[in-house]
Amino acid sequence: MPSKRTRLDRFISAKLTINRRGVKLMLAQNRIWVDGCLAISVQQTIDAFSFVQVDGQTLQDNQPRYLMLHKPIGVVSATKDDQHRTILDLLPENQRAGLHMVGRLDRYTSGLMLLTNDGRWSRHLTAPESKVSKTYHVTLQNPLNEDYISAFQQGMHFAYEDIITRPAQLQILSEFDALVTLQEGKYHQIKRMFGRFRNPVVKLHRQSIGNLALDPALAPGESRALSQQELKHISTVHPRCEIASELASLPVQPTL
Ligand code: URA
Repeated sequence: MPSKRTRLDRFISAKLTINRRGVKLMLAQNRIWVDGCLAISVQQTIDAFSFVQVDGQTLQDNQPRYLMLHKPIGVVSATKDDQHRTILDLLPENQRAGLHMVGRLDRYTSGLMLLTNDGRWSRHLTAPESKVSKTYHVTLQNPLNEDYISAFQQGMHFAYEDIITRPAQLQILSEFDALVTLQEGKYHQIKRMFGRFRNPVVKLHRQSIGNLALDPALAPGESRALSQQELKHISTVHPRCEIASELASLPVQPTL
């Protein structure tokens, strides 16, 4: 769901099919409430998750949703695909509406995927300037050595995009296994970086995004809602439900 902001008077006038002057009058009569507070200006803006009431009647009440999912190998990071199972196909049918993925994983990559209907939150997590790190467990066909660490740290030139990759951390776990942490997500980035060493990636699994780790209790294909605590820690942008829970402690509005 796009969380684009719109003016309050425009929204109410369209919903109630009244003109903007009528909305202004309602506001002056203290009949409009947004997120549990009396509206103060017709020019104030609302988004898809603002809770809007007029005379005690609810005009909009969309609940934001935030899920983590254990993506299995072979499922595509898409909401619709004619040939393959998609991430959304893994959710019960009645829970899919309005959800989109926060970033993507390749078809043969497994691990942590986030889903939401809050466009503001997903934009923040995927914006390059947010520098949210993503950590992957990588299994390789050939043995690793210390040269990889400095090459990943220095960055590599990707000719197709004509960019230098941002410094990436590589921690060698064993001869064929490493943890790689990126703060970006270029097309097939990890495979291309190991490709420089002619070392094919045989297994790729995303363990975490920011400080949110994939719940080990989730089997491939399973998902669950993020807790308030997890939401608070993964992002500096307040998820809407946190704002909503703060508002829940406000005095209940009078019905007019
Ligand atoms: N790098 C890749 O090559 N594939 C992914 O799915 C993620 C990072």
